[in-house]
Amino acid sequence: MDAIASREKYRQYVKPEAGLVSRRIFHDEEIYRAELDRIFKRAWLYLAHESEVPDPGDFVHVYMGEEPVILCRDRDGQLYGLVNSCRHRGNRVCRVDRGNARSFVCSYHGWAYNTKGNLIGVPGKTELYKDDIDQPSLGLVRVARIDSYKGLVFGTFDPEAPSLEEFLGDMRWGLDLLLDQGDLVAAPGVVRWNIEGNWKFAADNAIGDMYHAAWTHRSAMLAGHLGGNGAQSLAQYAPTREQKGITLLAAYGHGLNADFAEADEVDLGSPLAAWRLDPTVQARLGPVRSRVQRSNMNVFPNLFVNSGSRDLMVRHPRGPGRMEVRKTVLVDRNASEETRRMQIRSSNRHFGPAGMFEQDDGENWDQSTHGARSLAARDRDLHYAMKLGRARLTRLGDSPPLIEDLVNEHAQLWLYHCWAEFMDAASWPELRAAHTQPTDYFRCATT
Ligand code: FES
Ligand code: FE
Repeated sequence: MDAIASREKYRQYVKPEAGLVSRRIFHDEEIYRAELDRIFKRAWLYLAHESEVPDPGDFVHVYMGEEPVILCRDRDGQLYGLVNSCRHRGNRVCRVDRGNARSFVCSYHGWAYNTKGNLIGVPGKTELYKDDIDQPSLGLVRVARIDSYKGLVFGTFDPEAPSLEEFLGDMRWGLDLLLDQGDLVAAPGVVRWNIEGNWKFAADNAIGDMYHAAWTHRSAMLAGHLGGNGAQSLAQYAPTREQKGITLLAAYGHGLNADFAEADEVDLGSPLAAWRLDPTVQARLGPVRSRVQRSNMNVFPNLFVNSGSRDLMVRHPRGPGRMEVRKTVLVDRNASEETRRMQIRSSNRHFGPAGMFEQDDGENWDQSTHGARSLAARDRDLHYAMKLGRARLTRLGDSPPLIEDLVNEHAQLWLYHCWAEFMDAASWPELRAAHTQPTDYFRCATT
């Protein structure tokens, strides 16, 4: 394959100008393997919240794509990302979700690593190896770079990646909707579960699908899951009426979708709305973001953030048809125990493994993934053309360029457009050179 053809290899599956995306990218094993290499081994990926590893020796076990990684704070105060695979036979050296450790000792033959990943102990080093082992070169493989944004810790395997700041770009304006609400810390405990379905359907839903809520979650709402009268909840999420809100597309495939609260919709008595009464927070957020009622966002590739419920969910790929979700709930450091419990309970009822909305969504992603494999329909692309050609970028107050519209499919198309850019680029320098900014993308997509 020549160089130009190889640069277009994945572009053929995404047609933003027609609002179409091939079913193949949701089930093909070869494409999935390429995603692990070109997206998950390259992008900055969310690892954990800093409050999960506050002290020397603290660690959490996380994933970067399919790679098991120990995120650990060393005695020097720095965070290190260590691939959880012993350099002897590849066994895992850490088998728990979190804790505090001085070292990680492999359960197979006992090699020991410190919290920087250096190999510090080899049983039989003198007696069996005759001191002929190059210990300094046998440390755990490290994540190339670790950085954080307002408490969210990210890592990348690619030393050529741009700074985290550049990678997130205008998405920081969106993330601040949550991160500026107060002094937030991760609630204790680890919640994770599996969902059958391709990880991109979850990302595509997170980035701004406000079309689905009243259909997908109708039963849960009628059952009173959102409280009060189910019919009122349904009316609020009415799928076929225009609602006021915004859609933000940010560099490298991130996106957000938020609606504005009408004065009578905000329950100022709820502990989760306390930030609306805090003038410091209001000043930080500014007049536009202060009006936001709820927002869903996806930090490319796989971090879902909900600023209303303060949930962070990473959808780790586990093959083309499966994902493992890890959820973190952020709570206010100064909130009462009762408020924290209320928030965690409500999050788990909504998004957890037994969450009513999560069950609804997961079932759809499972069936969509099955549908993508259809022999009879495989050449019929999926339709992402709602309001295609009708978007205009504008700035509201201090906002970056965004679309003043809530229900549309622009952010989803943007996700797949950027997906193809990641997949077709051979390296970060190539990706940066080829990357279309949202302003340029819309120049193409709207004419
Ligand atoms: Fe870890 Fe042998 S595999 S010590
Ligand atoms: Fe949903």
